[in-house]
Amino acid sequence: MTNQTKIAVVTGSNRGLGYAISRKLSQIGIHVVLTSRNETDGLTAKQQLSGEGLDVNYHLLDVASDTSVADFTQWLQQTYGKVDILVNNAGINPTAKSEEASLLTVQLETMQATFNTNVLAVLRISQALIPLMKVNNYGRIVNVSTEMASLSTITSDYYPLAPSYRLSKVGVNGLTVLIAKELHDDNILVNAYSPGWMKTDMGGENAPFTAEEGAETAVYLATLPDGGAQGKFFAEIRKFGGPIQLQW
Ligand SMILES: NC(=O)c1ccc[n+]([C@@H]2O[C@H](COP(=O)([O-])OP(=O)(O)OC[C@H]3O[C@@H](n4cnc5c(N)ncnc54)[C@H](OP(=O)(O)O)[C@@H]3O)[C@@H](O)[C@H]2O)c1
Repeated sequence: MTNQTKIAVVTGSNRGLGYAISRKLSQIGIHVVLTSRNETDGLTAKQQLSGEGLDVNYHLLDVASDTSVADFTQWLQQTYGKVDILVNNAGINPTAKSEEASLLTVQLETMQATFNTNVLAVLRISQALIPLMKVNNYGRIVNVSTEMASLSTITSDYYPLAPSYRLSKVGVNGLTVLIAKELHDDNILVNAYSPGWMKTDMGGENAPFTAEEGAETAVYLATLPDGGAQGKFFAEIRKFGGPIQLQW
């Protein structure tokens, strides 16, 4: 690792999409800090990638906890003094619960827990890590969303209603635009994307795409050139053969 090496933080990188994004970023020479809320799972993921000869580090990070984010930020500051790339990937999806079949039955506790992990965590971590990006006036923030959160199609019957999950990702999209607006004078580019339906624990076996395929757009957004897209919503690259913007 040299002074020029880019440092990336990927939340929820012990499995699924976060692991695939971490692997791909490491393969192109970025130093990835894997994070997870369960230390054993995270260290296992680190061992697997190190075993492939990839340069990764690991630290505990529960995105739903203020204390955990504060501890992690202090460690990052002491260890690297900066961060270049943040991928807000960690998420939960309570859609399988029967109460989620209607907004009239959805439990507010479920919605609050989903918002804490999926939305407030993005704000919590962005607030903590953006100062470490400003150190070098360089940053790329990738917020993992879903096309199910596009307000232009939210009433379509094509997707399950999934109120807690979808509304939380609407919140992620809103945060993306507003944080990008606040950073318009900085070289810190903030974008959201939909990785598509993937074969992960969340997506299930019937999904058409792998987490590796879903990771492609994250890598594109994490490595945007200066002056690149800011405050936009992208679809998965492999579906369209290139970066395509979605309607909010
Ligand atoms: N799968 C799909 O088809 C699909 C489609 C569109 C968007 N997405 C989005 O893609 C992202 C990754 O999903 P996935 O399919 O990879 O799901 P997954 O296999 O269920 O993985 C979710 C990851 O998030 C972590 N996580 C959850 N709560 C956390 C917390 N409080 N702190 C730290 N980590 C936490 C999990 O950790 P544990 O192992 O500890 O639970 C796990 O590493 C999510 O934002 C999801 O909404 C997925």
